[in-house]
Amino acid sequence: MSSLNSKLQDLLGWVDARFPLTASWKSHVSEYYAPKNFNFWYFFGSLALLVLVIQIVTGIFLVMHFKPDASLNASGVPVAFASVEYIMRDVPWGWLIRYMHSTGASAFFVVIYLHMFRGLLYGSYRKPRELIWLFGMGIFLCLMGEAFFGYLLPWGQMSFWGAQVIVNLFSAIPIIGPDLSVWLRGDYVVGDATLNRFFAFHVIAMPLVLLGLVAAHLLALHEVGSNNPDGVEIKKKKGADGIPLDGIPFHPYYTVKDIVGVVVFLFAFSIVVFFMPEGGGYFLEFNNFDPADPLKTPSHIAPVWYFTPYYSLLRAVTFPLFGIDAKFWGVVAMGAGVVVFAFLPWLDRSPVKSIRYRGPITKVMLTLFVITFFILGFLGTKSPSYAFFGAIPGAPVAQILSVFYFLFFLTMPIWSSLDRCQPEPDRVTDK
Ligand code: HEM
Repeated sequence: MSSLNSKLQDLLGWVDARFPLTASWKSHVSEYYAPKNFNFWYFFGSLALLVLVIQIVTGIFLVMHFKPDASLNASGVPVAFASVEYIMRDVPWGWLIRYMHSTGASAFFVVIYLHMFRGLLYGSYRKPRELIWLFGMGIFLCLMGEAFFGYLLPWGQMSFWGAQVIVNLFSAIPIIGPDLSVWLRGDYVVGDATLNRFFAFHVIAMPLVLLGLVAAHLLALHEVGSNNPDGVEIKKKKGADGIPLDGIPFHPYYTVKDIVGVVVFLFAFSIVVFFMPEGGGYFLEFNNFDPADPLKTPSHIAPVWYFTPYYSLLRAVTFPLFGIDAKFWGVVAMGAGVVVFAFLPWLDRSPVKSIRYRGPITKVMLTLFVITFFILGFLGTKSPSYAFFGAIPGAPVAQILSVFYFLFFLTMPIWSSLDRCQPEPDRVTDK
């Protein structure tokens, strides 16, 4: 045994002389000092990594059987749609792989929204973590692209009509719009060319960019160190050994803690995969179990739940401005609703980072923002004529909430500096 051990040590020494294996393990894991007061909200970074791995691994197996082909087979069914059915019915464990991938898409957004919300709670985007946040925003945009491209692939009714609606939006851009949307589709309607390019983006272009951005995100994080629920910079108080007094090594403390999160997550994930993979029509829309039919427009077209808050922003603009169509301004509102998060590090002027030491104004504004986000998300799943309790029309509610959505950000420099905050403690409180 000891000779095996010494052989392994020799091997490690050989590798270390040629590649910084032990040094990287130490600087990023066993000697990366993270604040000792991480709580529930700090599970979601490692869970996002887990979901990323699930998506890549299940994706590889799906690609082995999926065919990006819009032509009709001998039974008159689009080949792409039929290949998904084949995966579901004939490929051993294909149903599991496919449901893990489709559930993984929604799980990704659940985890990422919670991960981003943690940033809002504890001011994790503030100096010196602006780049972590900006890389995160890049990831978020990529993830949206990845989900959008992926949704076309099964070539169901919603895949087809959802892509049709979204690509058509680009035609609202003055002058270049119509040509741009043809260029994006590769055809005058969503067709085989569109399916092939979306496939290329979904399986290679976006994942590559995503992986690069995740690496940059983590490198930036490890350069400045993690924030924590108190918003205290632990690097300011170091012991004689140069180690932050409030820091503990990531391994074994947080590797073990994160495993708890992984187990709980996999429980919830498995419940969805095995018992409710369509998630009540929110994770897999019912219309998408019908093959794409360019001659039959569904009565109600809505994006998947994670896009619906922004879809509500898009639909909220119903009037032309400066002689340009409402549709164009809707697209601008939708894009701005996503990108505006990137400006948070510069909009937030509070003297403290964490919600724990912020005053009532921040607490009220953040709560109202979360409620707004949920209601906009809900209304985005409904048709524009939806009325709450059959009486309160949803459309004007969405318009008012859309205005608040943007006011939350635009007025942040004012309300965040006016808020009555408590002083931040010197050390983490480790509650
Ligand atoms: C594939 C997607 C992502 C992965 C795998 C990922 C991974 C991680 C990990 C492992 C951490 C450290 C653990 C933790 O603090 O929870 C982290 C921290 C962080 N992430 Fe992400 N992340 C992703 C997306 C995002 C997005 C979309 C944003 C925001 C736009 C974001 C913003 C942040 C911030 C600000 C931190 C530092 C938090 C702190 O120290 O308090 N991340 N991320």
